[in-house]
Amino acid sequence: MPDRIESLLAELSEASGPTGFEGPVRAIVRRELTPLADGIETDGLGSLIARLDATSGGEDAPRVMLAGHMDELGLLVRRITPEGYLKFQTLGGWLDQALINQRWRVISSKGAVLGVTGIKTVHVMNADARGRVFAKDDMFIDVGATSAEDAEQRLGIRPGDPVVPDSRFEAFEDGKLYLGKAWDDRAGVAAMIEVVRLLKASGHPNHVFAAATVQEEVGLRGAETSAHAIAPAIGINLESGVAGDYPGISPDEAQEKLGGGPAIFLHDTSMLPNLKLRDLVIDVAKEYGVPLQFNVLSGYGQDGAMVQRTGSGTPAINITVPTRYLHSHNGVIHRDDFDKAVMLVAALVRKLDAATVASLRTFD
Ligand code: CO
Repeated sequence: MPDRIESLLAELSEASGPTGFEGPVRAIVRRELTPLADGIETDGLGSLIARLDATSGGEDAPRVMLAGHMDELGLLVRRITPEGYLKFQTLGGWLDQALINQRWRVISSKGAVLGVTGIKTVHVMNADARGRVFAKDDMFIDVGATSAEDAEQRLGIRPGDPVVPDSRFEAFEDGKLYLGKAWDDRAGVAAMIEVVRLLKASGHPNHVFAAATVQEEVGLRGAETSAHAIAPAIGINLESGVAGDYPGISPDEAQEKLGGGPAIFLHDTSMLPNLKLRDLVIDVAKEYGVPLQFNVLSGYGQDGAMVQRTGSGTPAINITVPTRYLHSHNGVIHRDDFDKAVMLVAALVRKLDAATVASLRTFD
């Protein structure tokens, strides 16, 4: 039997939330955080911000922002061909080869319409063509329509409709490894919810703002607006990390291993963490017996980068749940990493009293 956290992870993984269309995910986050929060609001772009007032430190206690993005990679209907096939625009950083011959749901006015990115059959290809990867511009979605009118009238599909990967959550045989879509960043969103739950129970010397952000995958847009609304003193971003523990990937590309504990990013394209905050995370991990991994990525961007640039600058760090096969229909995370990330972040937030935050924000 799945426990409460496995059920939450499964529900969040299977929820539809392609970039710009995060509503079903927002509804889950709102349901989970409403009983815990002192206030909940959405900003003008759609990010949901839950506030927990400081239980010590008074009105002037520091403002700590937690962030996790609700959106996942998706597609958007560009146009419907006269024959009833859908041409699409990608939302977020897809590999072309991850798009082909997959199941999708087109979110139309008549519901979630099943579709498949058709693949040209091998039987008509010469040896040269067989070795080639299909480019996304040549791809289309087959929704079983007989014409453009059929797609529009019977299925309710319009240009601009979002399209989401169709993929079920399942646990591997050991019960610890979870297979599903959208761990980027539903793992982070779920971790944020559980951190809020722990902080509500324990108390905390700061005002906590938990932001479930929108539109991360197209340029950290929701993090920018929600950080503006919150004006934090410290930012902690919760993300899916990049595992490097499978064939064909080297430690110089990615270092995280599933089951090795949560990780912190020491470099990605978007952000350098505050080094005093890095050291504090290392100390807290030691104190609580949480194994901590490091990752140095030459690519990647994450919401912490926008939090960091808020106001006159905000010390920030990105803490991750290691993830295999990001940006595809099927990723894998390890339950122990998730639980330990939650423990680590909650303990870290409890350390962030006014004096600690002041020292993190001081430069000699
Ligand atoms: Co992400």
